[in-house]
Amino acid sequence: MYTVIPWTLLLLSRTAHGTASNLRSELALPGVASFTPGDEGYANASRAFNLRFTLEPVAVVYPTTALELAEIVKIGSAHKLRVTARSGGHSYIANGLGGENGTLVIDMAKFTNITVDPATRTAVIGTGNRLGDIALALNEYGFAMPHGSCPYVGMSALVATPYGGFGFSSRMWGMTLDNIVSLDVVLSNGTIAKASKTVNPDLFWAMRGAGPSFRITTAFKFSVYPAPESVIIFQYNWHLDVASAANALGAFQEFVQEPGLPAEFGADLLLTRGGVEGNVSFVLTGGWHGDPSLLNATVPPFLATMPPLNAVTLTGGNWIDSVIFLGGGPLNTSTAPDHTDSFYAKSLMTPEASPMSEAARTSFVNSLAYDGFASNTSWFIQVELYGGSNSKINSVPLDETAFAHRSAMFTIQFYASSFNNAPPYPDFGFTFLDNLVDGITSNSPADWDYGAYPNYMEDKLVDYKQRYYGTHYPRLLALKKVLDPTDVFDFPVGIND
Ligand SMILES: Cc1cc2nc3c(=O)[nH]c(=O)nc-3n(C[C@H](O)[C@H](O)[C@H](O)COP(=O)(O)OP(=O)(O)OC[C@H]3O[C@@H](n4cnc5c(N)ncnc54)[C@H](O)[C@@H]3O)c2cc1C
Ligand SMILES: *[C@@H]1O[C@H](CO)[C@@H](O)[C@H](O)[C@H]1NC(C)=O
Ligand SMILES: *[C@@H]1O[C@H](CO)[C@@H](O)[C@H](O)[C@H]1NC(C)=O
Ligand SMILES: *[C@@H]1O[C@H](CO)[C@@H](O)[C@H](O)[C@H]1NC(C)=O
Ligand SMILES: *[C@@H]1O[C@H](CO)[C@@H](O)[C@H](O)[C@H]1NC(C)=O
Ligand SMILES: *[C@@H]1O[C@H](CO)[C@@H](O)[C@H](O)[C@H]1NC(C)=O
Ligand SMILES: *[C@@H]1O[C@H](CO)[C@@H](O)[C@H](O)[C@H]1NC(C)=O
Ligand SMILES: *[C@@H]1O[C@H](CO)[C@@H](O)[C@H](O)[C@H]1NC(C)=O
Ligand SMILES: *[C@@H]1O[C@H](CO)[C@@H](O)[C@H](O)[C@H]1NC(C)=O
Repeated sequence: MYTVIPWTLLLLSRTAHGTASNLRSELALPGVASFTPGDEGYANASRAFNLRFTLEPVAVVYPTTALELAEIVKIGSAHKLRVTARSGGHSYIANGLGGENGTLVIDMAKFTNITVDPATRTAVIGTGNRLGDIALALNEYGFAMPHGSCPYVGMSALVATPYGGFGFSSRMWGMTLDNIVSLDVVLSNGTIAKASKTVNPDLFWAMRGAGPSFRITTAFKFSVYPAPESVIIFQYNWHLDVASAANALGAFQEFVQEPGLPAEFGADLLLTRGGVEGNVSFVLTGGWHGDPSLLNATVPPFLATMPPLNAVTLTGGNWIDSVIFLGGGPLNTSTAPDHTDSFYAKSLMTPEASPMSEAARTSFVNSLAYDGFASNTSWFIQVELYGGSNSKINSVPLDETAFAHRSAMFTIQFYASSFNNAPPYPDFGFTFLDNLVDGITSNSPADWDYGAYPNYMEDKLVDYKQRYYGTHYPRLLALKKVLDPTDVFDFPVGIND
């Protein structure tokens, strides 16, 4: 049973099926902005964050309430259109625009309410909010939550957490989606509903890992945490040749499995172009959320396995200082315009039970040190620490949420932008990243159980059902047939036959 918020007008609903020609007038709800092809403002409203994609939605609509949103879903469904929500619009493959032409796009920009309840340590957050604004609003109450950090590309993104939500606090607090208490949603038939552990539990399960295929979320209720008093953002830098970098990756894999590694230690290895052909820049970066005096007791066992450091930067402060530092710009997104990029990205989640072999690591860094050095793209690789000892992410039982990855050691993100971050995107950008991933998998056991992270969604992943959704795919497909039988919320690499 669904908890339906009754609203007589909505339940009377539209009986007549509209035609394409009157879509525009049907969408002209009072107070609701909408843009259709030919309108001034349409080009801006339909621009993808990743300029590699040029898409033409049938309309981009900006409802201001859940009731209006429900009405728009019904209009789209009556016109047999695919309907898509866009929150931050930062999908890597423009899925906020439906990933293909002819989609009815519902932009969540007006859903910016944030209500914090200190007594229950929860916050209700509209899905039109961006990460920086959320962090600021929570900080006013002394609270924080785990979310993306992205030191390299900056943080103008919202993280609507459709598929995870990883940040340096995730080993301590879990993925963003692990902290969802309940959601307010609009179903594919325009019904307004809630989902939680006790209300619509199947939907609640599916939405934490595969949400966009199932409904539109208008607000999340999250558990929040007292903001840590001290966070040290650390950056240990090396310039390494191939053999040293392959060894360093191996040493890091061993280091993170030491039983004493605290949950307060969050980290990435950031690999970028080296100063000379045959080298890479290798940076251990992350956030230390524990007693400041204990960082130097945590990292030295790793440093001891490494060549001498080229540089160290430790930046201390409180929680919000660290969010600002990692964001690399103002957190208040109304004060700075968003940027765009033209890029290809891939991901690979390595199994904790079978760390990368020496041959896999060597192939990986060899490609970076030679092909990467020569490549006319700007690229970065992040080896994000999901697992290791005492990780909250991996302490959640696999079947508790639809998120399919509870035994990964790393999520490796491969990201290459075209020259000047502008189109056209060169073929060698695709080849460079595809070869990197192939070099790792082909130097791994035939049954190597690796995954891919759906928040770094790619359009060319052939075996995406297995890599993104893993063993949860069959259950997700069965639920999809019940909850969205006419595929209103359909897009490439989602849940479909
Ligand atoms: C600069 C940058 C930094 C990043 N850093 C991190 C990071 O540190 N950690 C991390 O985990 N990820 C990170 N990501 C990846 C990010 O999590 C994904 O790109 C995410 O999908 C972006 O969410 P969005 O709301 O901006 O995207 P959108 O393009 O708006 O949406 C993405 C998908 O979710 C669907 N969707 C959006 N809103 C709703 C809604 N209200 N209801 C239902 N479905 C909806 C869309 O239809 C689409 O399929 C980063 C991305 C960028 C571009
Ligand atoms: C273009 O769209 C963005 C959001 O996608 C919005 O913030 C901005 O105001 C728009 N610009 C114009 C000129 O309409
Ligand atoms: C935001 O909060 C205001 C004030 O409580 C309320 O009137 C409005 O309906 C809320 N908006 C949404 C989209 O929930
Ligand atoms: C969508 O339409 C635009 C403009 O006609 C076109 O350039 C683009 O290739 C189309 N995209 C897809 C995915 O079909
Ligand atoms: C909408 O779909 C839900 C879930 O399938 C169902 O429970 C509800 O009755 C439907 N509402 C209407 C108005 O058809
Ligand atoms: C290249 O790597 C070697 C070996 O790690 C190091 O000694 C050298 O300084 C590096 N050179 C540059 C320019 O990064
Ligand atoms: C920790 O070690 C770094 C060098 O790795 C040093 O610069 C710093 O002063 C040390 N901090 C403390 C508190 O000992
Ligand atoms: C962000 O900036 C805008 C415009 O200056 C302001 O109205 C808003 O209150 C700020 N938000 C926060 C969370 O500080
Ligand atoms: C990189 O590509 C751009 C765009 O094609 C080109 O203008 C530039 O000369 C290239 N640079 C190099 C070093 O090849």
